[in-house]
Amino acid sequence: MIQVSIEVNDKTVTAEVEPRLTLLDFIRDVAGLKGTHAGCEHGVCGACTVLVEGNAIRSCLVLAVQADEQEVISIEGVGGDLGRSGELSIVQDAFCEAHGLQCGYCTPGMVLAAEALLADTPNPTEGDVREAISGNICRCTGYVQIVEAVMLAADRLANRNYKSKPGQPYDQTLG
Ligand code: FES
Ligand code: FES
Repeated sequence: MIQVSIEVNDKTVTAEVEPRLTLLDFIRDVAGLKGTHAGCEHGVCGACTVLVEGNAIRSCLVLAVQADEQEVISIEGVGGDLGRSGELSIVQDAFCEAHGLQCGYCTPGMVLAAEALLADTPNPTEGDVREAISGNICRCTGYVQIVEAVMLAADRLANRNYKSKPGQPYDQTLG
């Protein structure tokens, strides 16, 4: 067993783990955060995507010991105040508004892939968005509304969809 200490959504989680434990299982079973989904568990579907040091990675392909002393953001930490405020992030809200999900199984990974894209590329083209989510499989939506959701989030983050309410992130009444 090896002791690891991982910062998950700004909270330090320390545990003795087997060297073979994946980061995915650490997040789900040790940290107790079930929003990171297990899909294929061999790097194909993207359902397990989280941010490690700001980079979108597949947590089923990383061992927990490799993430020792690193910062991880899971879907639970994406919303306001690292998830503590209960408010959705702009990306999450755009997914709801643009109908970017159906069953929701792929959604945590899609949202985190989008968060990573928009942190690096605030004015993405649709091609950029498609490239960023190209490793995330969705069986339900056909991807079109997911792309629309990410483009909507990009607009709002750039204040292009900023109608009123200064001090608010965006006007939720906008379509
Ligand atoms: S569960 Fe990790 S890529 Fe599918
Ligand atoms: S919303 Fe069902 S898999 Fe994407």
